[in-house]
Amino acid sequence: MDAGSSGLILGIESSCDETAAAVVRGGREVLSNAIASQAAQHANYGGVVPELASREHLRNIVPVVQGALDQAGVSFQQLDGIAVTAGPGLAGALLVGITYAKALAFALGKPLIAVNHLEGHIHAVLMQAETLPQPLLALVVSGGHTHLYLARKKNNAWGYRCVGRTVDDAAGEAFDKVAKLLGLGYPGGPWIDTLAAHGNPKAVKFALSQVKNKIYRDSDTAAERRLQFSFSGIKTAVLRYVESHEMRASIDARQAALAAQPSASQPATPADALPLCDAPTLDLIASFQRAVVEDLKRKSFDAAEIFGAGSIIVSGGVAANRELRQRFTAEADKRGLPIAFPPPSLSTDNAVMIAAAAWPRFLAGEFAAEDLNATPQLALS
Ligand code: KG4
Ligand code: ZN
Repeated sequence: MDAGSSGLILGIESSCDETAAAVVRGGREVLSNAIASQAAQHANYGGVVPELASREHLRNIVPVVQGALDQAGVSFQQLDGIAVTAGPGLAGALLVGITYAKALAFALGKPLIAVNHLEGHIHAVLMQAETLPQPLLALVVSGGHTHLYLARKKNNAWGYRCVGRTVDDAAGEAFDKVAKLLGLGYPGGPWIDTLAAHGNPKAVKFALSQVKNKIYRDSDTAAERRLQFSFSGIKTAVLRYVESHEMRASIDARQAALAAQPSASQPATPADALPLCDAPTLDLIASFQRAVVEDLKRKSFDAAEIFGAGSIIVSGGVAANRELRQRFTAEADKRGLPIAFPPPSLSTDNAVMIAAAAWPRFLAGEFAAEDLNATPQLALS
């Protein structure tokens, strides 16, 4: 960094359905955090529609970046670098952020830093808890990913090794699909999180085989096989339960009641759904959440033990889940293992984490080439 530089990084994130921009000083001090969520646009489909996402990013990117600069009281010229998510994510969505960031960096003559979205999620925690004992075991659990990484800092640069992952659906995807199946809103995680607190988590038994690992790569070691996730089975088990317990009519009635909310600007909230759910539905929701959280917990702590991790961090949208935080924290306390989560507002997609993750790269002069492109399957290493 130049002696006169103040370390102001503009982060830009557009990998999925949030257009986000933020200004962060020195990788830590958050000066602004602007987000335009597209959840309402995708709600009718119960999941992200890629074409719709790209169109909304195009519409939002200029005002969101301007909003982030205004909130921070910073001008374009004062920035020291521009960081952008290069992947993984939806190609068309990523390209909007990348194209804009490249043009901005070129016009301003400032360096461009490419950031892996998953490293961003990890830095949403590290920016506040960098002194955690290493190596760290990081569970990144979101709508697109359920990955376990072993993270280490060497010579001021973070390195990552993937030691476990989902072989099919991500955990957040399971929350979204089960919520949709039960006639709840999108994204499903916050709905299930709220309603699960009112049900009995032991009422419905999900056999472990339904959340157990199934498919392996030939190169996977025995330890890695133990650490793989699979969430498509539990989603099917919920569907079967709904059918065998004749819940269809009550689901349709709930969906219709939630859709009849007064206006699009006042969409239904998870609290609105509570009086629309009978006890068996609440029990099913609580049991589903308990099974997913237990599976995530067991494999994360197994991984920490296998690889001798000094601490655990959990990040990504599902890390906002209250039961997950409680049960992970209780287990970590039992084992005397330090644990950290991002603040709930930085658990889901945002650009603060992108600007924070860019900071060590900025200091190391690791800048992106002019031909930076979107990499939808970008791996973290
Ligand atoms: O990290 P994120 O914003 O986007 C991706 O990178 O995917 O994660 C979004 C996911 C969605 O699947 C959403 O349902 C889930 O995070 N989520 C939650 C909660 N809040 C968001 N899942 C469980 N409990 C929550 N409170
Ligand atoms: Zn994410």
